[in-house]
Amino acid sequence: MEEQMRGILILDFGGQYTQLIARRVRECGVYSCVLPYTAGIEQIREENPRGIILSGGPASVLEEGAPRIDPAVFALGVPVLGICYGMQLMAHLMGGTIERGEQREYGRATVSMDATQSGLLKGMKAESVCWMSHTFQVTRPPQGFSVIAHTVNCPVAAMADEERGLYGVQFHPEVTHSEEGMTLLRNFLMEICSARADWSMEAYAERAVEQIRAQVGDGTVLLGLSGGVDSAVAAALLYRAIGKRLTCVYVDHGFMRAGESDQVVEIFTKTFPVELKAVDASQRFFQALKGVTEPEQKRKIIGREFVEVFKEASKALGKRDHFAQGTIYPDVIESGSVKGSAVIKSHHNVGGLPGELGFTSLVEPLRMLFKDEVRKLGLTLGLPESLVYRQPFPGPGLAIRVIGELTPEKVRIVRESDRVLREEIAAAGWNDRVSQYFTVLTGAKSVGVMGDERTYAYAVAIRAVTTDDFMTADVAPLPYELLGRISARIIGEVEGCNRVLYDITTKPPASIEWE
Ligand code: XMP
Repeated sequence: MEEQMRGILILDFGGQYTQLIARRVRECGVYSCVLPYTAGIEQIREENPRGIILSGGPASVLEEGAPRIDPAVFALGVPVLGICYGMQLMAHLMGGTIERGEQREYGRATVSMDATQSGLLKGMKAESVCWMSHTFQVTRPPQGFSVIAHTVNCPVAAMADEERGLYGVQFHPEVTHSEEGMTLLRNFLMEICSARADWSMEAYAERAVEQIRAQVGDGTVLLGLSGGVDSAVAAALLYRAIGKRLTCVYVDHGFMRAGESDQVVEIFTKTFPVELKAVDASQRFFQALKGVTEPEQKRKIIGREFVEVFKEASKALGKRDHFAQGTIYPDVIESGSVKGSAVIKSHHNVGGLPGELGFTSLVEPLRMLFKDEVRKLGLTLGLPESLVYRQPFPGPGLAIRVIGELTPEKVRIVRESDRVLREEIAAAGWNDRVSQYFTVLTGAKSVGVMGDERTYAYAVAIRAVTTDDFMTADVAPLPYELLGRISARIIGEVEGCNRVLYDITTKPPASIEWE
């Protein structure tokens, strides 16, 4: 298994596309992992990679303190591809020349591919549009390298030392703007590294099950279910590995969406019959949040109570040996501790718990997976699509979608209106066209008439956005008729609400959540 899964190691120099490189490699069916550039040569050897990719990065190799690696990397006998900074570093360490370009190249560039017969550029067009972003460039490659591509401004857009299996590209093959980028990456992986396309979710699940069994032995594991995708997939995987020796704690803070808590309980008692301790702690949360209106304070209180309830529930269950959580790859990379110490997802608010509760070890079976891979794994393991494709949902849940003090009444209004919104969007077939949608209890009350009665009730806002990364977002152009139907149903079905608004603000300047 290990031999089969030998993959590509990406050394990260802080480039904004490092994760993308890892993804692209996996899209080719080849396993990949990322280590910071500071990883020692021993650690790199231990990974036993089929090939190494040096990522881009913001630094210039000529500046003092620029990230470096041990040149022994180039003598491991496995192919190395340097991308942008990675190429410049390779050239610099091996005796080539780097200089500031006369013109900074940024954006699309036409690259003349001078060697498309074999190797890295095999099958590519003589002129290919690529994404460039650099100030410095290689002007003379090191001895043994030949120039295999150039642009008008960049004499060495790609270089190769076929004999030693060393390659560098100044452009970014991993971004979609590089039209034949995937051809280049595939050439590197399949032709040059002789990698095997054996990365699949079933293969991953098998390997993960073996690893979990090796780590846990005949011990027991405790896992906190959050109601989100990651912890649910981790639980399903652990169930496959150790069955009933897995215990899950699910703390319902009372701010989940309609039907979600029931679904979690149903799945982990019927489909995956683990020992499940579901705690309904909503009363306690409302009590702790009485009179609190400031959003950050709400978040803090919810975090604190969550940890307390979780701790009490775990203690009541008695001793479990290991602690599991659904940390995923972006969490690991962001923490900068790839392969280092454990990362506790902050929004799960269980930081420090494993140590405090005296667990022997931390089990994190998803730490090598990206979000979409986690979803695929979830489906492979038999979790329903409705759970696996859940929208992102903040840890504090609906609590941050009620502006002002929290009361059961207000949470009911936001939950009920959210249910109506979800039903109508699904019925209209807009599910896949909107990235995230929900309702917000704005906190504003206004006058209305219903029947012959004067009303004075809350205004609910609909938030619906499209986005790739949730860092920026556009307003989803929901059809007017659909909005009309949603509005009519909310007013008709949700008591306490007499006005519906549509939030037409992009992010930035607004955030997605109101808080
Ligand atoms: P904002 O409101 O910052 O939200 O534009 C960006 C995305 O993050 C989600 N979000 C959270 N996700 N824990 C999470 O896992 C949280 O505490 C949290 N707060 C906001 C939000 O729903 C949106 O998708």
